[in-house]
Amino acid sequence: MAPVVIAIDQGTTSSRAIVFGPDLSIRAVAQQEFTQHYPASGWVEHDLEEIWASVVETTRTAMARAGVEAGDVAGLGITNQRETTVIWERATGKPIHRAIVWQDRRTAAECARLKAEGHEALVAARSGLLLDPYFSGTKIAWILDHVEGARERAARGELAFGTIDSFLLWRLTGGKVHATDATNASRTMLFDIHQGDWNPDLMHLIRVPRPLMPEVRDCAADYGVTEAGLFGGPIAIGGIAGDQQAATVGQACFSPGMMKSTYGTGCFALLNTGAEAVASRSKLLTTIAYQLNGKRAYALEGSIFVAGAAVQWLRDGLGIIKAAGETGALAEAADPQQDVVLVPAFVGLGAPYWDAECRGAIFGLTRATGPREMARAALESVCFQTADLLSAMRADWPGAGSAGTVLRVDGGMVASDWTMQRLADLLDAPVDRPKVLETTALGAAYLAGLARGVYPEPEEFARGWRLEQRFMPAMDETTRGAKLVRWRDAVSRTLSRG
Ligand code: G3P
Repeated sequence: MAPVVIAIDQGTTSSRAIVFGPDLSIRAVAQQEFTQHYPASGWVEHDLEEIWASVVETTRTAMARAGVEAGDVAGLGITNQRETTVIWERATGKPIHRAIVWQDRRTAAECARLKAEGHEALVAARSGLLLDPYFSGTKIAWILDHVEGARERAARGELAFGTIDSFLLWRLTGGKVHATDATNASRTMLFDIHQGDWNPDLMHLIRVPRPLMPEVRDCAADYGVTEAGLFGGPIAIGGIAGDQQAATVGQACFSPGMMKSTYGTGCFALLNTGAEAVASRSKLLTTIAYQLNGKRAYALEGSIFVAGAAVQWLRDGLGIIKAAGETGALAEAADPQQDVVLVPAFVGLGAPYWDAECRGAIFGLTRATGPREMARAALESVCFQTADLLSAMRADWPGAGSAGTVLRVDGGMVASDWTMQRLADLLDAPVDRPKVLETTALGAAYLAGLARGVYPEPEEFARGWRLEQRFMPAMDETTRGAKLVRWRDAVSRTLSRG
């Protein structure tokens, strides 16, 4: 049998394992959801034993479904929810605290303090990020400060830090490898994205001791082998990338100016800027898109916290739909005379506003407003937010303003034709929906297969990317302009005054 490649996609709400064939086609999928813990308002945690069990089980199930054994697998790639923070004991592999999830806001006050002391410029210059609780740095310090004896143990080298990829790698290799890849490192607020190494100034500022840190490798590299007992024989681990970066690879956005946007619970848009790390003036993040053969490609990233979550709210909060798939048809039937705008700031607003305090609002309600208009407002809010990101990218980097800008999309929401057409209309740019929508797992598998020599070089992989449908902008300029003005006015009335 020609060798297959396995991708482990450890996401925020579920773990998935996908087996890809030698031609990069999907052979089998297994998925498992796990518990979200909310111990206090704004806090989100994951139980790492539950995550570990779900990763092992889904990998075994996917292998069984594909009818493959360890000896048939050329390599394994890991992709993961980014920023989520783990500290474990080197001696036992046991975490000393639950994982603190990227959405967790418990270090907001610490970030505000560091900001007030004027440290944001240093953080941005070195790490490309903003001083926000979203990233790993202040979460690490929080665990060290709140678990008894942790600071002393960290200084003695008894503990290890990692994002979820590192923790899984440690467990998969039976504690032999403590490493991460450059994309995950770039989300910690401790990594110098220009030098490609942990930065002593940032580590000092955020109070994180060096002995905790993993080694940083390329996205396609030798990451060791899985313990033989786990999957019936050793499997080489050849790739790691954060999930949004893996999607960028899976969408083959390898040239500067190419852009992808993934619509899950939130939405993350990454614009490849090539060898140039573009410093944003519009509150976007500068991040590592991928690192291959020691060469880094950078991206500008816009992160929106509510995309698919707005549709979930229609279903679970308002009860006006039964399944997410109904939303597009409902929106299409909305009254064009009504101008209802939803600002879905359920957990504040991310890029480019970064307002953690504001909350959602609806404008333009009349007696005639019903489920259809609400559905349209929810879907349009996702399109408006993407338009905000694209205009921030255009302001930051001329390469994003070229007439040829095309957005490659993936994630659950892109199944709706109506939403994709509206997105193209509001962006005034074409939107490309690929045939393979499992782009995150595809990216991780591709990186592992590349390292293991079973998948082609990026240029050839990119030629294999297949379009399912292109949505061309068709809205007239006046309508589009008026809609964007109305959206921006709604946002400005929603932002917190503080
Ligand atoms: O930065 C957070 C992002 O990586 C989470 O992605 O798909 O697990 O919600 P997802």
